[in-house]
Amino acid sequence: QVLPVILSGGSGTRLWPFSRERHPKQLLEVVEGASMLQATAMRLRELADQLDVSPTPLVVCNEDYRFLTAEQLLECGYPTGDILLEPVGRNTAPALTLAALLVLGRQDDGLLLVMPADHVIADGGAFAQAVSAGVPAALAGDIVTFGVRPSRPETGYGYMRVDRAVDSAPRPVEAFVEKPDARTAEHYLADGRYLWNSGIFLLRASVWRRAIGQFSPEILRACEDAVQQSIRDVDFVRVGAEAFSACPSDSIDYAVLEKLPASPDCGVGIMAVPMDAGWCDVGAWDALWGISAKDADDNVLRGDVVVEETRSTMVISSDRLVACIGVEDLVVIETADAVLVARKDATQAVKNIVARLKREG
Ligand code: GDD
Ligand code: MG
Repeated sequence: QVLPVILSGGSGTRLWPFSRERHPKQLLEVVEGASMLQATAMRLRELADQLDVSPTPLVVCNEDYRFLTAEQLLECGYPTGDILLEPVGRNTAPALTLAALLVLGRQDDGLLLVMPADHVIADGGAFAQAVSAGVPAALAGDIVTFGVRPSRPETGYGYMRVDRAVDSAPRPVEAFVEKPDARTAEHYLADGRYLWNSGIFLLRASVWRRAIGQFSPEILRACEDAVQQSIRDVDFVRVGAEAFSACPSDSIDYAVLEKLPASPDCGVGIMAVPMDAGWCDVGAWDALWGISAKDADDNVLRGDVVVEETRSTMVISSDRLVACIGVEDLVVIETADAVLVARKDATQAVKNIVARLKREG
């Protein structure tokens, strides 16, 4: 049986001011009627038609969002009871290590399907097919990734080099580069052998433990202590706060994936299943505009909004009436205590504003 592990801990600074501390982006309603966390959980139902998938996902999230997370899962029909709480964020490698150790502690070494909670996947059927195609390699002890054909020189993703074959069979990853600079990304796009890492992984819990123990023993040690000290508290599993706070911060990609192709001796292989499922990481406002339903003028308008002669613009109002006249390619996000107005092609830089606000208090 495949156990879905949903990583729901990021804060999503590029979706400021919506994703302020109290509302990380995975808990925001993005596609009509559901948050990205809910959309991720509901995607599992489609998967269950093709695979033996546990009906209760294991969600790993920050302690601060436990009630909102539990509430959202219940709302879409998932029992809670498997929410693993981190006292502080230490990025994705420790989050996955906690999940793997918790599962191994139950004498279970089944497959984990690791899913970020900040994605949209348009074609659930194609996604399920890709996951099924990865099962044999994952059972055999490889880390299986899902690769998306790149369409632009995006610098926010990981790139995986595979052979050029056109079918969708899993293939070995010859090189993994996390978040390359713009020139390198251009080069990978032109090269044709590279796939984006979608951030979804299929692997055995014991395989992850072996890999992280090899490349980052401090993370493994801190997480072992944190899980040992964990307490179950009705709906939640709280890991030991002191032990986990001492854990180094690192991502799955930097800590392990980048190193695997160059370390054939470690006994863990890395494979990629090509996936064409309308995958999109909703990292910034322009991506949200890209995936949302638009009106005849290419606008995405939500809340109390009126526009005149406005095109290709996204306006989201949560508190007050917002009016736009004669604008194009803008993003306008209104909340009770902050308003963002940005050119759509500049929304990646929102994270700079957030950093500045943090610095300047
Ligand atoms: N529980 C928990 N704890 N979850 C976390 C934490 C944490 O400390 N940090 C991040 N997450 C969650 C985020 O909420 C998100 O759902 C997922 O883990 C991935 O983290 P991101 O911070 O969004 O990673 P990224 O987008 O920069 O990069 C990853 O995803 C790309 C595709 O979207 C990498 O895997 C890239 O290689 C990949 O291309
Ligand atoms: Mg992301």
